[in-house]
Parts: sequence; structure tokens; C-alpha cells
Amino acid sequence: MIKGFVFDLDGVLTDTAEYHYLAWQELGGKMGIAFDRVFNEQLKGISRMDSLERILKYGNKSRAYTEDEKIALANEKNEDYKKLITNISPADLLPGISELLKELKAADIQLALASASKNGPIILKRLGIENLFDTIVDPACLTHGKPDPEIFIKGAEQLGLRPDECVGVEDAEAGIEAINAAGMFSVGVGSKESMKAADLFVTDTSELNVRDILTAAANWSH
Ligand code: G6P
Ligand code: MG
Repeated sequence: MIKGFVFDLDGVLTDTAEYHYLAWQELGGKMGIAFDRVFNEQLKGISRMDSLERILKYGNKSRAYTEDEKIALANEKNEDYKKLITNISPADLLPGISELLKELKAADIQLALASASKNGPIILKRLGIENLFDTIVDPACLTHGKPDPEIFIKGAEQLGLRPDECVGVEDAEAGIEAINAAGMFSVGVGSKESMKAADLFVTDTSELNVRDILTAAANWSH
């Protein structure tokens, strides 16, 4: 029986995935590395430093910077990103998310946040939904990032549940891989192509429906 939902943040609860993209593009421009939305799919769900590494590798510039310079570049991206998220408010919740979270709470389902973002807690606060979440996984405590299942296993653990008692919701390919590897029922938000590994997928958050998800999860054989 499903007793918990473990949510990704960026691109699932709010459209900060777009802000991450804009901030990385800005930094990419300064480093002379251009990339598009197709490449950006590979950055979703990936930690700040790992994202920078992927961009540098893509631009054949992995060795162009020292470790200290890389940290400075990642900080620069984050400062830019923080400016973009300054004015986030409850109006920035993606369509249907507010209703979905309230419906889950009303059904006594516990909620956990499993985001690789160190900006997660402040964003939840600005969105006005921090009180709906029972627990937040601290990404600083993780040994492995997505697609490793660690963050989702921790999310379930922090709720006092087994992974198979939880549903994971993601917009990143690496995130769906992580949920599946954790042994959780996976719900993907995105294109059919990028969400092909999800147990259930919707193209838009407004299509997320508690009854549909619980029915599909109940019939899921893993
Ligand atoms: C999420 C996003 C990634 C982002 C990562 C780290 O997983 O999908 O695009 O790079 O969090 O976010 P942070 O806010 O800590 O830089
Ligand atoms: Mg995401």
C-alpha cells in the first residue's frame, strides 16, 4: 500500500529547471561553450559540480580550469540562479501541484523532498509549501547523486517507510532511473521519449491525478 510520495523539486513542483538552464547557459557563454535544451536534459537532476563537469566535457574544456576555478565557476552560476529565484512565490507552483499536495495530505500520505538542489528548502518556503512536507533529504549528506537510488531510499527512510510503500515523482531521466533502482513506483513528468523508463508518465503536471497514480501503483508488479 502506498503511504508516501517522494518528490523531486525542479521541474516537478515549480519551473526552476528553466532557471537552472538559463543560469548554466549564461556561464557557458562566458566560457565559450554553447549548448541547447537537448543537451540540457542531461543536466537535470545532476548536482551543481557534476553539471559543471558535464558542460566542460561537452565543450572539451575539462582540463582548462583548476579545481578552485571550477568551484568559483559553480558559485558564479549559483549566484546568477539565486537572482532568478528571488521572486518565486506560491503563484509559481506548476499547474495542479497545490491541489495534488493537499489531496495527498488529506489522504494521510506523507511527503518527502528528494532534490539534489541545495536551494531546495528556500524554494519550498517561497512556494509556501514547506509545511506540507514531512521531511527533506539533505543533498549534502549524499554519497552518490541521481541516477543512484540513494536520495530516494533516504527519502523513504526519513518517512519511516519502505521504498515499495512510496511513489517517486521526477522530470529527469536520471531521476526516473534513481526511483526505479530504489524499488519505488516511478511517475515521470515530461515527453514520452525522455520519460520512457517511468512506470507512469504525464506530459504536464496538471495531468497528475492521485487516484490514477494510486491505482497504477497498486497494480504494479516489481
Ligand atoms: C536539481 C536540478 C539540477 C541542479 C541540482 C543542484 O537536481 O535538477 O539542475 O543542478 O538540483 O542544484 P543547486 O541549486 O544545488 O545548484
Ligand atoms: Mg527535476
